[in-house]
Amino acid sequence: MNGEELRERIHREFPDGIYLDWACTSGIKPPGCAEAVYRALCGTTSNINRGAYSKENQAGMNIFLLREQLRLFFDAPEDAVPVFTANVTQALDAAIRGSVGPEDHVIISGLEHHAVTRTLTEIGADYSVIPARQDGSADPEAFEALVRPETKAVVLNHASNISGTVNPVSGIFEKAGRHGLLRILDTAQSAGSLPVSMTKLNTDILCFTGHKGLLGPQGTGGMILTQETADRLKPFLTGGTGSESAVYTMPEFLPDKFEAGTLNLPGLAGLKASLDWIGGQDLRKIHEREMDIAQKFASAAEALPGLSIAGGTDYSGERCPVVSVIFDEAAGDPSDAAARLDEDYGIMTRSGLHCAPLAHKTLGSWPRGTVRFSFGPFTTPEEGRAATEALAQIVNRT
Ligand SMILES: Cc1ncc(COP(=O)(O)O)c(C=O)c1O
Repeated sequence: MNGEELRERIHREFPDGIYLDWACTSGIKPPGCAEAVYRALCGTTSNINRGAYSKENQAGMNIFLLREQLRLFFDAPEDAVPVFTANVTQALDAAIRGSVGPEDHVIISGLEHHAVTRTLTEIGADYSVIPARQDGSADPEAFEALVRPETKAVVLNHASNISGTVNPVSGIFEKAGRHGLLRILDTAQSAGSLPVSMTKLNTDILCFTGHKGLLGPQGTGGMILTQETADRLKPFLTGGTGSESAVYTMPEFLPDKFEAGTLNLPGLAGLKASLDWIGGQDLRKIHEREMDIAQKFASAAEALPGLSIAGGTDYSGERCPVVSVIFDEAAGDPSDAAARLDEDYGIMTRSGLHCAPLAHKTLGSWPRGTVRFSFGPFTTPEEGRAATEALAQIVNRT
């Protein structure tokens, strides 16, 4: 099939385009999410924790139920409490800025996002990167040697937003716990894709975002922690909470200690509806289907001249369905390829550097970056095949 014929066929079969940027945000929401956001804005609406009327109590109850739903979803300890923020970036900021000062040292993996590396740089804290294994994940054997007397925390990305590579969190955090270090986990890519157990992963603060694998609206996210852990942190955001209003300092108790200001209640209503939808699915099956698409796409892409896959082509183990294609000089520029995918075929991807320069260095895709294809619960095998054919035509210049 020549270029013109393929372009025509793809546009005919996928008139709305092919969304392959799920690692960035869930571009398609499940049934019920948009309706829940709409309902939360209809008629007389209210805040929570502030007014003295039953409507507020009902709104407060919905948020209480969502906290419990999230606690169970992440298999968090019974006394852990989800605190809401606008996204995982704010949650990581709250956890890191609340515990780390310029005099402290922090240990991180080589797969971290700017949500961690920029924050540590802005704080001025010294940090060490755990040496990586072949696939880019942190080597647990290399962890212990990095611990110093001034080490305060370990921050790990559960799964890379470039390669889907999963860090061996449980083992590293288990060792970190023996040194009394605060263990902070970024689940931006894993939540909703892989099973994430805060308990099994030996995590003190689990940070999540609502709009990626949890399929909720943008502007939702948070961190889950116990009161004991909260006592080790300073509040990063300060202001009114609707509680202890006579006192000029922040309340010490959860979730109020970290929830100054009004929450994004319509967004959280949408997140709740998305979690309800996820709760009715077999997540393992969805993940298997996404990984099958990722595996086939990665193998086909790597067979094309001048292309390789960040983190390797093996998607059979624990990994997220994110495939970043590295272009050598002769194969062309990743950003040009992504522009052609969109303009000529209606295929939506992300190109260049993905807010994670450290991870690009670890995975060998620095400084040109990649074209990232990421698959989600509504991606079909036909869409994966169309992306393979389009990429082949772009690279082969046919
Ligand atoms: C691993 C990782 N951490 C943090 C973030 C930041 O997510 P958000 O923009 O929802 O705060 C992302 C988003 O791309 C990510 O992939």
